[in-house]
Amino acid sequence: MDKFIINGGKKLSGIVEISGAKNAILPIMAAALLAKGKSVLHNVPHLIDIKMMAHVMRVIGARIDFEGDTMEIDATHASYCEAPYELVSKMRASIYVMGPLLARFGSARVSFPGGCAIGTRPVDLHLKAMEALGANIEIEHGYILANAPKMHGSEIHFEKVSVGATANTLMAAVLTKGETNIFNAAIEPEIGSLIDFLNLMGAKIDGKDTTHLKIIGVNKLKPAEMTMIPDRIEAGTFVIAGAITNSPITVSNCQPAHIGILLDKMKVAGFDFEIGENSLKVIPSETINPVNIQTQPYPLFPTDLQAQFLALMTLANGTSIIEETIFPDRFMHVSELNRLDANIVLNKNIATVNGVKSLSGAEVMATDLRASATLVLAGLAAQGQTTISRIYHIDRGYERIEEKLNNLGADIKRVKG
Ligand code: EPZ
Repeated sequence: MDKFIINGGKKLSGIVEISGAKNAILPIMAAALLAKGKSVLHNVPHLIDIKMMAHVMRVIGARIDFEGDTMEIDATHASYCEAPYELVSKMRASIYVMGPLLARFGSARVSFPGGCAIGTRPVDLHLKAMEALGANIEIEHGYILANAPKMHGSEIHFEKVSVGATANTLMAAVLTKGETNIFNAAIEPEIGSLIDFLNLMGAKIDGKDTTHLKIIGVNKLKPAEMTMIPDRIEAGTFVIAGAITNSPITVSNCQPAHIGILLDKMKVAGFDFEIGENSLKVIPSETINPVNIQTQPYPLFPTDLQAQFLALMTLANGTSIIEETIFPDRFMHVSELNRLDANIVLNKNIATVNGVKSLSGAEVMATDLRASATLVLAGLAAQGQTTISRIYHIDRGYERIEEKLNNLGADIKRVKG
């Protein structure tokens, strides 16, 4: 397995361009199953998760061509309504095919997605919504068997905000006769971009960026072409890379408004930013003030930036409290950061981060996507050499991260394992 070797302590400078958003693209790929014909997605990065989703869709019978940053999906001959265990267990977002398969074919057999390093990942909200739309759901040998000879509009009240369940329900409802109202829907930008894509296909969805979505079912959808939004989590990760190395880097091709809460919290920490239309420049700070955060659904602090922000707080001149409310086990990065001489004490879903003067390089192991990116950030700041093993986790959600960081003046080598 590949490793990263990072020689830390370097100042960064220059501009980094953000890639298309993985978590926006995955549901939109699945949405292309709703129509016969060729949909075209632009600004698609070459990430493991996106290639895995393409594999799942090829199994279903879609034809996918992925050249440069353009992906063509022709779902004309899609027909095999199954997402098998060996694929779903590797990439939980495969469950996004359930809504489109039910809507177009009235049937779906999807393996239960397993848990992962950040905790158990239930899908009960997805299943309740499918049942509300008229699907019959059975669980057999680790598979979800969903059948819906006749679906009907419904009122769906999510008891918890769920990005995935909101996306799956939207994709099931757009071809479902009648009116469907979703209450307590997720309002993440990735949901907004899915709504844009579905409406481009001819769907009738109102309420974008609000927690109440109204869908009027249509008989047929057509393929669509759209440019994917930039990845707000990659953008936030690079903003923190600038901050943790005290470097005035510019993050371009991003939407600063999508990471407004992060920028607010970093201003409290002492940083500032020059905000452009689709870029921002980090104004570093000699000292880092401690800042408390609590993760919550959008537009509050995103769980996908919790680990990265925690790494920054390891160098603050005081104690910060980091509370994770979305995935309470999402602290695999803590023990690894403490190997770099951070001083973090974990108690259930709350990390108490006692700032230290500096981190020092060590051998650490990546465990999940965002924890891995966090170890890269800490390695950039640490004095000496940091070696990170199992970096395939990083390649799931960051395109050429070492190339982008080296272009900013970092010293990272990818070593074949
Ligand atoms: C999406 O996961 C993202 N993944 C996650 O990003 C992100 O952390 C998460 O949303 C929260 O923003 C993709 O978009 C592919 P949820 P998802 O359903 O949809 C509970 C990354 O690093 N829940 O919004 O799986 C769940 O356990 C990944 O890019 C149920 O209880 O998240 C969690 O506590 C990691 N029942 C909360 O809801 C359900 O049926 C929010 O989960 C579904 C979810």
